Amino acid sequence: MKDTFRSADWDTYKMEYSKPHKRLESLDAERAVVQQALDAIQRAGVVPHTAYDEARFLAHRRAVEERFEIPWTAITHRMQRLLYAVNAIAQPANLIAAGVFCGNTFISNAGAAVGPGACYTARRCIGIEIKPDEAARAERNVRAIDPTGVARVVAGDAVDVVAAFDGPIHLLYLDADGDKERGKGIYLDILEQAYDKMPPGAIVLAHNSANAAERLKHYLAFVRDDAHCHASVNVIFDVEGLEVSAK
Ligand SMILES: C[S@@+](CC[C@H](N)C(=O)[O-])C[C@H]1O[C@@H](n2cnc3c(N)ncnc32)[C@H](O)[C@@H]1O
Repeated sequence: MKDTFRSADWDTYKMEYSKPHKRLESLDAERAVVQQALDAIQRAGVVPHTAYDEARFLAHRRAVEERFEIPWTAITHRMQRLLYAVNAIAQPANLIAAGVFCGNTFISNAGAAVGPGACYTARRCIGIEIKPDEAARAERNVRAIDPTGVARVVAGDAVDVVAAFDGPIHLLYLDADGDKERGKGIYLDILEQAYDKMPPGAIVLAHNSANAAERLKHYLAFVRDDAHCHASVNVIFDVEGLEVSAK
């Protein structure tokens, strides 16, 4: 099933990118709108249920606030909660996040498997960042939360790292902004390298499905084609958006 979930306030719920921890609404309001998004994702068949442990999620949020160095981020509290919840529900053994900048997006996914928000045991959680300095900062940030090394950041081009990955990919998170020519269009290049490694039911999450929809049109056409993904929901509850798809 293909669907769009759009909250009534998607274009007025706006964060300041330099203030990632500033609360924009009550926890009750945040929980409710994310629940509506999860319900839409479940209806489409991406996840079997919508239950996650909120106390663990809030412990994760607190640890990121206390221990991460985040110069800026476009991950809203709603998006942070949705990413955590999808991972907590799907429990991917192997997670890959492409284009992780300082690591905030990566840990929003991997935080369900490592650190104080952990609710299951993963095998490998890999964040990929092409800029070596940013990769080093992201790795420092992740180490401050995950002493185990299950989650780690590698410096490299996500297209190459995914192509070389030697195992199944159960969840792929896409956020790389590519080069001048491709921009976020690089999502499709990365997914094409991952696709054959993704077992049926594997999930792919694409940030900026709303504000980069034009640049992502080939990617969005791919995941909304039944031949490639049996379910895909465009979640628009902030100006960025997230396309949530299942193979
Ligand atoms: C815009 S940032 C993502 C930020 C994220 N949305 C947030 O709010 O925190 C995109 C990152 O992708 C990285 N990137 C671009 N092309 C890449 C590639 N081919 N492989 C890995 N990382 C890449 C960039 O260096 C940049 O740090």
